[in-house]
Amino acid sequence: MKKYRDIYQDWQSNPYKFWLEQSENIDWFTKPTKAIDDSNKPFYKWFPDGVVNNCYNAVDRHVLSGRGDDIAIIYDSVMCDIKQKITFKELQDLIAKFAGCLKNMGINKGDRVIIYMPMIPEAIIAILGCARIGAIHSVVFGGFASRELAIRIDDCTPKVIISASCGLEPGKVVAYKPLLDKAIEMSQYKPDHCLIYQRLQEKADMITPRDIDWHEAMANATPQDCEALAANDILYILYTSGTTGQPKGVMRDNGGHAVAMHWTMKNIYNVNPGDVYWAASDVGWIVGHSYIVYAPLIYGATTLLYEGKPVGTPDAGVFWRIIDEYNVKILFTAPTALRAIKRVDSDGEFIKQYDISSLQALFLAGERADPETVKWSQQHLKCDVIDHWWQTETSWAIVSNPLGIEKLPLKLGSPAMPMPGYDVKILNDNGDVLPPNELGSVVVKLPLPPSTLVSLWNGDDRFQKSYLQRFQGYYDSGDAGYIDDDGYLYIMSRTDDVINIAGHRLSTGALEEVIVMHPHVAECAVIGVKDDLKGQVPLGLLCLNSNIKSDISHDDIINDVIQLVRDSIGPVAAFKHAVIVDRLPKTRSGKILRGTMLKIANAVSWDMPATIDDPEILNEITVALQSIGYGISTP
Ligand code: COA
Ligand code: AMP
Repeated sequence: MKKYRDIYQDWQSNPYKFWLEQSENIDWFTKPTKAIDDSNKPFYKWFPDGVVNNCYNAVDRHVLSGRGDDIAIIYDSVMCDIKQKITFKELQDLIAKFAGCLKNMGINKGDRVIIYMPMIPEAIIAILGCARIGAIHSVVFGGFASRELAIRIDDCTPKVIISASCGLEPGKVVAYKPLLDKAIEMSQYKPDHCLIYQRLQEKADMITPRDIDWHEAMANATPQDCEALAANDILYILYTSGTTGQPKGVMRDNGGHAVAMHWTMKNIYNVNPGDVYWAASDVGWIVGHSYIVYAPLIYGATTLLYEGKPVGTPDAGVFWRIIDEYNVKILFTAPTALRAIKRVDSDGEFIKQYDISSLQALFLAGERADPETVKWSQQHLKCDVIDHWWQTETSWAIVSNPLGIEKLPLKLGSPAMPMPGYDVKILNDNGDVLPPNELGSVVVKLPLPPSTLVSLWNGDDRFQKSYLQRFQGYYDSGDAGYIDDDGYLYIMSRTDDVINIAGHRLSTGALEEVIVMHPHVAECAVIGVKDDLKGQVPLGLLCLNSNIKSDISHDDIINDVIQLVRDSIGPVAAFKHAVIVDRLPKTRSGKILRGTMLKIANAVSWDMPATIDDPEILNEITVALQSIGYGISTP
């Protein structure tokens, strides 16, 4: 059996041969003869002459190989008490019909379709229905509010939006349809149709003839076959936070995606066809795209779709009940979910109530896996606990412990070693490669492997500026870290203004853009302060206009601003704290010193910035932060 180092070397010595061999594992209408077209650098095209379909690989081929009666999706919703199993054959029929609905609404190859759905099987059917006919899907997480949805509508101009009447959050029904209607009202571009799945918990008001009922559309649809798509046709756009309020539309193509998704299931997760694989995330995030929908199904595993939280729905034992009930082999979630469970059940009493011996490994990603959480999980789950590092941009792990190849020795705080396809280096600001143990920018040598972003939607220039210009010949991950003497990577922080809230990536710039829309706010800064549960939460420092009437209280303004962020960006931003200050600390050239304020708030030691305009302001900031319970430290 080849070891990790042999396989990594196989890739390094001939990357194109490596990926062409991997491409044999998926089904093509026309097999690629060439691994890559690099004639238009830095825009690389994987498998340029291949013809393929991701839905065919995820569903149809398993039916054709006699596995039609095997379970493709297990749906467990603790929010509406539904347990459902869907076979590959049933899934094929539903998706083929759904593709017919899309056709009836005038959707063809290359048209965009936004999907704004809760965690119900119809979300997977919608995604794969688009993939089936070559429509480009763009899923928007349900926790985003109308303005965020409107920004995405204007950017990708979808002919159709697919949504549901509501999402179910603990103790509340979140009506999606009014949010969708408001988003369409706000956007310049208007979709032709909205296809609405009515859930029992909330009936959406329909606007005719724009809105179409899911069930009626399905009843009138003619099943569609999988379209033959060029490997480099776009499969989906997934928006992620950049440093501004305009999110980046990460574009992924068909061929490389199917190949890489397939490769990861065995090599990284050690999954076999038929195993039950559970990514406890949401279809609106990259983890959901890759590991709830595509990869498990492409590999012929069973994917588990869970609607609920790790705690409180009904209790901190729900994850273990599900693992026991469905013999889950791999659980993938963000460390924050484990922290939430640990907080309620520190002694693991709930775990003891279930038989979780089917669980071979817990995979963590989305944020730094803090050693305490990893140790707690190892102790109580008695399985491998694997941290792995990746991004929306890559769609699969850049650095991991490849369990299906070889379990590398674990080092707390490190997601381990680069996967084949990724040549990871640490660079200083001049672009020099740094020696082991020195902190710098984490970059990956070009070309990136299959299934990584091909560009940004409407943004070839932004793609180059954001990722490729700072270090020639490398992809800049936006993360800072170091590699130790054994080649293990450690991710330490971001190099930009992106913060990570409960494994969700948000831009402080986007929050600031919304906050300054408030009529009383003159200027503001948002920093991502440490939070025991969510890793980071945003904290706003607000400077007010001088002409505010004396009867308006600061508390009212803060509550207003918090509501404004909730209504504009969404509850997912978890923006609950702000403080009013007279001035913000800046450099002499006018740059706000967010990093120093963050250190003060987190009570870690800090140095007086040499370029500060007025050092006295930092004392004022310290006092203001103290007044709302954030820590201090002296320079
Ligand atoms: N639709 C509508 N609202 C949503 C939503 C959705 N799909 N998802 C979340 N929200 C709302 C929540 O109701 C909550 O609103 P509130 O402020 O009124 O309470 C807010 O957005 C924040 O939600 P959430 O991030 O889930 O925080 P929480 O405090 O409710 O729960 C955790 C904390 C740790 C339990 C939760 O974040 C979690 O399960 N995380 C798992 C990690 C994960 O999925 N990561 C994704 C990448 S792997
Ligand atoms: P997203 O694109 O939303 O998945 O966010 C990607 C970002 O989350 C990365 O650039 C990191 O900053 C952070 N991240 C993801 N996984 C890890 C990990 N295992 N360790 C540390 N940070 C991580």
